[in-house]
Amino acid sequence: MKSEKALKSNEIKITLKSVFGFEETLAEELHELGYKETEVLNRAVRIIGTWKDVYFLNLHIRCAISILVEVDHFFIRSDEDLYKKALRIDWTSYFDVSKSFAVKGAVFSTLFKNTQYPFLVVKDAIVDKFRDQYGDRPNVELKTPHVVFDIYVKEHEVTISLNTSGLPLFQRGYRTAVGDAPLNEVVAASLIRLSKWDRKTTFLDPFCGSGTILMEAALLATGIPSNIERQHYAFKNLKNFDATMWDEIYNGAKRVARELPCKIIGSDLSDDMILKARRNFRTMSFGRFIETSAKSFDQISKEEEKYFIVTNPPYGERISADIPELYESFGTWLKHKMPNTEAWVISSSEEGFKAIGLKPSRKIKVFNGDLECSFRKFEVYEGSKRYKEEQ
Ligand SMILES: C[S@@+](CC[C@H](N)C(=O)[O-])C[C@H]1O[C@@H](n2cnc3c(N)ncnc32)[C@H](O)[C@@H]1O
Repeated sequence: MKSEKALKSNEIKITLKSVFGFEETLAEELHELGYKETEVLNRAVRIIGTWKDVYFLNLHIRCAISILVEVDHFFIRSDEDLYKKALRIDWTSYFDVSKSFAVKGAVFSTLFKNTQYPFLVVKDAIVDKFRDQYGDRPNVELKTPHVVFDIYVKEHEVTISLNTSGLPLFQRGYRTAVGDAPLNEVVAASLIRLSKWDRKTTFLDPFCGSGTILMEAALLATGIPSNIERQHYAFKNLKNFDATMWDEIYNGAKRVARELPCKIIGSDLSDDMILKARRNFRTMSFGRFIETSAKSFDQISKEEEKYFIVTNPPYGERISADIPELYESFGTWLKHKMPNTEAWVISSSEEGFKAIGLKPSRKIKVFNGDLECSFRKFEVYEGSKRYKEEQ
């Protein structure tokens, strides 16, 4: 990784933010996209690239929440110091006075009792810079700003970046209908990548809800960017926005698939959820090929030689259910009805995992929103080595 080396004239530091625990998964996705030199950080991965990479990655990356471009990096001794150093930045070169902006981020520093305070200091520096130069100032807009700056303060060290995505990248643009406990799209994509699904084996989600896991699996298998339906990107509001370059990247991306490279199947107990999932799938050219049905998982009969399951059953947090009973019958169904299956389950319920009655061959700590979860792999074999019982 050459982040400490001098940057070439068109090079910039690009930081892709991930969900906790998925940093390596994001780095692996970047490697697959051709970015060989990556620096894995806490909840983020950094690369050196150009603005073309920023556009490309905003469209193509599946496992990042947002993409930041570094504006400045310096050390401070006080809040006054922060103001002075922030005032040196040529903010007016990034955006126009007609655009609204917001300053957000994270502060871990004993210099500031109020962790929101550094955002106000930087906001003041931006406003003062515009006033000095143009006699006018841009508006602050916290909900839907045109331009978002990200401030990261770690003790005396400050990094100021532009958030080039704006709204988080899990807002893909394909989901219109959601259930009570939908999975974040970036988490769904990260779980699928973490599972190392070969993109060929029949993919099944027996608790599919509004279909997030199935949709991300289909997008991955077809090679269509997860953000192909998304219109909003904050980089379009910047002064340096190159519409021709963006159009080339956007128009060059795959958007249509007339078939799926393998079967992708989902079911859910709720008719309403299946209707929602189908509505979401219809936004994509391949949507009608995802097979869905309203039924309980134990009504699924094995029709394929081998299945690969990635699923998000109820945890008992947002959806009430008899968790031990549900997970126990899921384990029994896997053992007796689904030989030759690799099943990955995300849940926050330790009680549920115990009730499955199978020994997981992998356990990975992950987060679904604020909820600490575990993502576990269960292998059910055919013949003598049929399954690993929980000991
Ligand atoms: C946590 S949600 C799944 C959310 C989904 N990943 C999404 O993004 O929308 C769990 C789902 O399991 C379904 N469910 C509960 N019991 C079931 C059963 N016995 N068989 C199949 N689905 C069931 C619920 O209807 C609910 O939609």
